[in-house]
Amino acid sequence: MRNEDKISEVRRSVDIVDIISEYIPVIKSGRNYFAVCPFHDDHNPSMSISPEKQIYTCFSCGAHGNVFNFVMNYENISFYEAVKKLADKVGISLSFSLSATKSIRNPNEDIYNIYDVASKYYQNNILTNDGVDALEYLYKRGFTNDIIKTFGVGLSTRNSLTKVLNAKNYSEDVLVNSGISYKTNGNIYDTFTNRIMFPLCDLEGKVVGFSGRVYKSNDNSKYINTKESEIFKKGKLLYNYHRAIESCRKKKSVIIVEGFMDVIALYMVGIYNVVASMGTAITPEQARLLKKLSSNVILCFDGDKAGNKATMACAKELDKIDIRPKVVRLPDDLDPDEFIKKYGKDKIMDYLENPKSLLDYKIDEYKKETNFSDSEDVSKYIKNILLELSYVDDKLIREITIKKLSDETNVSIATLNGMLKVKKKPEKPKNIADKKRLSKYEKSERMLIYYMLRSKEVIKIYENNKCYFPTQKFRYLVSELVHYFNKNDNMIIADFITYLSDKKELLDAFNEVDTMNVSENYTYEQIMDYIDNLKEYSIKNEIKKLTYEFKKETDEIKKIELLKQISELKVRV
Ligand code: UTP
Ligand code: MN
Repeated sequence: MRNEDKISEVRRSVDIVDIISEYIPVIKSGRNYFAVCPFHDDHNPSMSISPEKQIYTCFSCGAHGNVFNFVMNYENISFYEAVKKLADKVGISLSFSLSATKSIRNPNEDIYNIYDVASKYYQNNILTNDGVDALEYLYKRGFTNDIIKTFGVGLSTRNSLTKVLNAKNYSEDVLVNSGISYKTNGNIYDTFTNRIMFPLCDLEGKVVGFSGRVYKSNDNSKYINTKESEIFKKGKLLYNYHRAIESCRKKKSVIIVEGFMDVIALYMVGIYNVVASMGTAITPEQARLLKKLSSNVILCFDGDKAGNKATMACAKELDKIDIRPKVVRLPDDLDPDEFIKKYGKDKIMDYLENPKSLLDYKIDEYKKETNFSDSEDVSKYIKNILLELSYVDDKLIREITIKKLSDETNVSIATLNGMLKVKKKPEKPKNIADKKRLSKYEKSERMLIYYMLRSKEVIKIYENNKCYFPTQKFRYLVSELVHYFNKNDNMIIADFITYLSDKKELLDAFNEVDTMNVSENYTYEQIMDYIDNLKEYSIKNEIKKLTYEFKKETDEIKKIELLKQISELKVRV
């Protein structure tokens, strides 16, 4: 069986509606199902899922595809991983080797394997005699054996991992490249020695790097991390992402903390919907990942000044993707781990269950800086809060805050309201369907493809009346469509999408056409009209070209020849 057939079998064995509803709630309406689109900040169900066509389309952000595309995009995995996942689900074994296919796409296979070996090696070390002190350190910090296992905590000892990996025939270049080893003066050494090792995983839970903590020496770098590589990009992952997915969905919220020790500390008291940014300012990529976990984001950074700065920066990044996080502010400069040690489980639960709105958090921070018996300070305080309020859409929140502010400062509500200048948010461009007006040729090429996707007959009419498509992407799309049809002798839209899966531009072109709101019925005359229009376009183009040549031409005889050609063409349009 051909690979494509197998992939198509997997696709046909699942129902896109069932699969999508495992990820997000879907509701039936008429022939289709609808969902709040997970690929943009959606408040109404803009995503429609067609059980007949086995495809989904978001009318707002343009996300679209078949079941594989949904799983790929939702889980951030490759096409083949999505196929594999669904194949496993329905118990189809893929006859072609996924890893063979993957190695073409994934030249980093070696590095993944190295990390796998390294992780097991470190985890084993901590259970040996070499690990006694490290274990004692961890136990003191409240780790249990279960937690050590869950988080894959290990130990790097002397220079030994490089040798182990060398014996497994990994070249020195690859080892250095992976970041597990480094070279100096021609000798190769382990990057990590005598540190407690915390594996860092990608979004699926594959180990892609490490962070190593000192535990007995007084080395002044508390943690050392794997250097950035093709597979390890700190800004593109969140610590504990893969483990937190389920709990975040259940709890309908995600907590973000700064350090991975904080994640583990929260785990130890039974809070699992938590991830860590690992000390650096949150990137746009990480903001999107948070949103994938839940749009209800709770920031619980360290209680110190740096934590406040991180909170503000993170809120700003989240605002760009329309997320207004809630904030937990811990007292006494404590981080969540220290807070739990000091105040216990119930107290942290209490804090996490009562986060502040971002606005209230900011007001509290301004309050801390204000000396209320100093008029200039109070004036600054008022201005800061009014500026914050100017971005708030909710009229009630504005009113409540103004009232409080007035009570606090003895400035009248009227004065405060007079000073408040509410900023209107610019309307976002909404529907991808709201487009510029199309010429008759552009309409024809789209309509023709629309019906070709729905009817073999139309494909055959086109094949007998080949014509030129003015827009490049549609020209390519139609050629793929015909090619697909001739290969498979049928036109199944969802499989055609798979066929296009690595041609993003064509997928978009396909979607643009497939989502047009036009009747499914056509007549032969109508189809011929489109074809005639496109032929007319070619002729007009040809006339233009010849006219240009005519104008440039100096040889009278050639000029006459061109003129003849032009007038012959003109008769046809
Ligand atoms: P913190 O210094 O707050 O670490 O850094 P922590 O979570 O309190 O760790 P413990 O409790 O002292 O063990 C927060 C995060 O910043 C990164 C780490 O990812 C850490 O989890 N970091 C910190 C580094 O990468 N390198 C460092 O030297 C320090
Ligand atoms: Mn700490």
